[in-house]
Amino acid sequence: MTIRIETERLILRPFEVKDVEDHIAMMQDERIARFLSPSGKPRSYGEEWRAAASFLGHWAIRGYGFFSVDEKETGDWVGRVGPWKPGGWPGLECGWSIAPSRWGKGYAPEAAIASVNWTFDRFPDLARIISVIDPENANSQAVARKIGEEKTDEIFEFWGFRLDVWAADREAWLARFG
Ligand SMILES: CC(C)(COP(=O)(O)OP(=O)(O)OC[C@H]1O[C@@H](n2cnc3c(N)ncnc32)[C@H](O)[C@@H]1OP(=O)(O)O)[C@@H](O)C(=O)NCCC(=O)NCCS
Repeated sequence: MTIRIETERLILRPFEVKDVEDHIAMMQDERIARFLSPSGKPRSYGEEWRAAASFLGHWAIRGYGFFSVDEKETGDWVGRVGPWKPGGWPGLECGWSIAPSRWGKGYAPEAAIASVNWTFDRFPDLARIISVIDPENANSQAVARKIGEEKTDEIFEFWGFRLDVWAADREAWLARFG
């Protein structure tokens, strides 16, 4: 099955082997690692190589996973956004990370809206989509608000962090973006 989602400025497609090096480079930026590594600092090339392998493995195991985000104007790989539910996760999440050179353009919400529409369509019984966000991650909270997610009272503990669970219900989502 070929999956290709087009938005105004972006192309979303399954994360592929060819994206691994771009992904590692993004993850080794301090601004990205702050909320996406156990220490809050960039991890080694080898650790990020294995993390990238887990994104490919997620597609193999679940049949869905993060989308690579390509910028239409340049063709550049600019991040990864999409559905993600590794074992032990508190629900089906829409996650987002955009390369810092492209921050502030609204790419994450643009890709997230398309991803969540795809996810609710793919899973007709899915009652809500979540995003797991560090209480200090203001940028990510801004994205969650832009796509209509609200902070719940649920906490998910991971890597020693107490993360907030944000969520949007299916009905409210489809009324706004469907
Ligand atoms: C969170 C993230 C995906 C947002 O991507 P984005 O495409 O820049 O999203 P937006 O353009 O909507 O910007 C979101 C917020 O980031 C902040 N922001 C925007 N440009 C910025 C910049 N150049 N520098 C610092 N912060 C910036 C603003 O607070 C903005 O909210 P606002 O539009 O209400 O002012 C991105 O910051 C990122 O990849 N962060 C690191 C990885 C991460 O934390 N992922 C989420 C884990 S839960």
